[in-house]
Amino acid sequence: MCGIIARIGHGDAAETLLSGLENLEYRGYDSAGIAVQNGSGVKVHKCSGEVDDLKSSLESQPHGNMGIGHTRWSTHGPPTDANAHPHTDTAGDVAVVHNGVIDNYDELRTELQAKGHEFESDTDTEVIPHLIDEYRTETGDSEEAVRRAVETLEGSYAIAAIVDGEEAVYAARKGSPLVLGLDDEEWFLASDVPAFLDHTDEVIYLEDGDIVVLDPDSYRITDLEGTPIDRSTDTVDWDPEDAGKGEYDHYMLKEINNQPTSLSNTIEGRIDDGDVALEELPAGTFEDVETVQFVACGTSYHAAMYGANLLRSAGISTEVVRASEYTSMSGPVDEGTLVVAVTQSGETADTLEAVREATARGARSLAVTNVVGSTAAREADDAIYIRAGPEVGVAATKTFSSQAVTLALLTQRLAADVPTATPAEDRETMLEELKELPEHVERVLETTDAASLARDTVDSKSYFFIGNGLGHSVALEGALKFKEITYEHAEGFAAGELKHGPLALVTDETPVFAVATGSGDGKTKTNAIEAQTRGAPIVAVSPDDHPLTDVAEVHLSVPDTHPVWAGLLANVQLQLVSYHAADVLERPIDKPRNLAKSVTVE
Ligand code: M6R
Repeated sequence: MCGIIARIGHGDAAETLLSGLENLEYRGYDSAGIAVQNGSGVKVHKCSGEVDDLKSSLESQPHGNMGIGHTRWSTHGPPTDANAHPHTDTAGDVAVVHNGVIDNYDELRTELQAKGHEFESDTDTEVIPHLIDEYRTETGDSEEAVRRAVETLEGSYAIAAIVDGEEAVYAARKGSPLVLGLDDEEWFLASDVPAFLDHTDEVIYLEDGDIVVLDPDSYRITDLEGTPIDRSTDTVDWDPEDAGKGEYDHYMLKEINNQPTSLSNTIEGRIDDGDVALEELPAGTFEDVETVQFVACGTSYHAAMYGANLLRSAGISTEVVRASEYTSMSGPVDEGTLVVAVTQSGETADTLEAVREATARGARSLAVTNVVGSTAAREADDAIYIRAGPEVGVAATKTFSSQAVTLALLTQRLAADVPTATPAEDRETMLEELKELPEHVERVLETTDAASLARDTVDSKSYFFIGNGLGHSVALEGALKFKEITYEHAEGFAAGELKHGPLALVTDETPVFAVATGSGDGKTKTNAIEAQTRGAPIVAVSPDDHPLTDVAEVHLSVPDTHPVWAGLLANVQLQLVSYHAADVLERPIDKPRNLAKSVTVE
């Protein structure tokens, strides 16, 4: 969590830092700050609240051609002005922004205080500028001081620092993402590409142990010993417009509406002659695989459930484990195990940790991610990209759809490769229907009644979501989305489980959203009727001629398609219900309280 940015070049840096921070706010929005350098000292401006609050607090745009910036998701200390980054040393000569967690900050702080350093915040980060200052005094060299400081730190960090009187930005990473952006006349460092995508699409994904020094005309990457490193440059194929809100009030609505395009990108070139064609994972890739273990969190976990359901239908032994539970909950792992990390950001700490544990136990790993160059993509043996484009709203929407489709394609590859598997008989029809999915989503977006339904139901006591099989994962995802952005109580259940406990909560104030895909929905209908008998209003999220529509008070229509894709269309309807309910309740839809998009702490 937390987003950091740095910029050096000719001309003022402040505006670029502030707009970059706005594009990083999905990583945290408790407090924000910038520091700029202009030859007359390092000037720090910071406050609790969002980047907008920081902007309003600035009487005039600070001048200086280099600077650093931060948007925070608090770990150590509440979101106060004092705890906002950048942090400085006692004299205010060294300013640092940091994403990560410093495990040994307590002992370092005590040692530094004993040497006379004065601290002003509760954060773990504040030890870093003091350490740099301490080593600068010893060595007289800021680059060496940064190197020594990061060697002293235990934990995870991506840091950027500026030093009074020096035309340089210093940076380092270990365990937290950091990307270098290369433009003709300026350099950037950021936690993620959207921070500077308006300026350049040429990037270098930095690795753990890299130390970077930028000056206005050049950049240098070295390792911890100071040996120069040559890292390759990548061109990001995201459009700068993808990183903005465009005509929409919220990123979430933009991203829901972007799904016809994002899904087309996910599918493009991956279906050939009635079969899947995955460039990254050619035929035969998985011949040695015996079992598959999915690890994921939150929405990605629901997408993994979707994929696991399809894999089981293909006769492949499959387990889905919540990444945070991996140590205690995963089954046996050996060389025949493929551990599949499903993670939009590729940076979720719980997921990365689960993959590391599985690979240490002998598994082979595959990352299914949206972010090229992410830690998951770099650490896994193989990676396949979901190609959803940047997703900024904290609530995952288009990435769920693209994850599920990518996993469905992956299922076909595994079913063809794994000797004991049985590829689906209707594979060709299914893949043909997949080509129609973007158009079907378009139809849902054009015809949905989600807004009026949300207005009518928004004063309910609780919201239940039920479904079977693929519909179960969609029900869980529908409930997660609803609670995340409306702050209302919502729960998802396997339809048949309702009567084993949750039914006690059902009243006429608990609408039940029943998700049907057109296959194996019998229990969804009978359990919906049982809830209805207890007074619950039923919303069928199903194909038009589905038996559920005979019993439901309200129907959210899912275009007629293969059952494998129907669940994803039902999910788009549920995304819209959540969005409109949150809008009626005037919630901060893109920045729900206490959450951050990329959860890089365990
Ligand atoms: O980046 P990841 O896909 O690994 O993130 C996992 C979860 O933190 C994420 O899906 C979270 O549940 C979403 N904010 C839900 O909308």
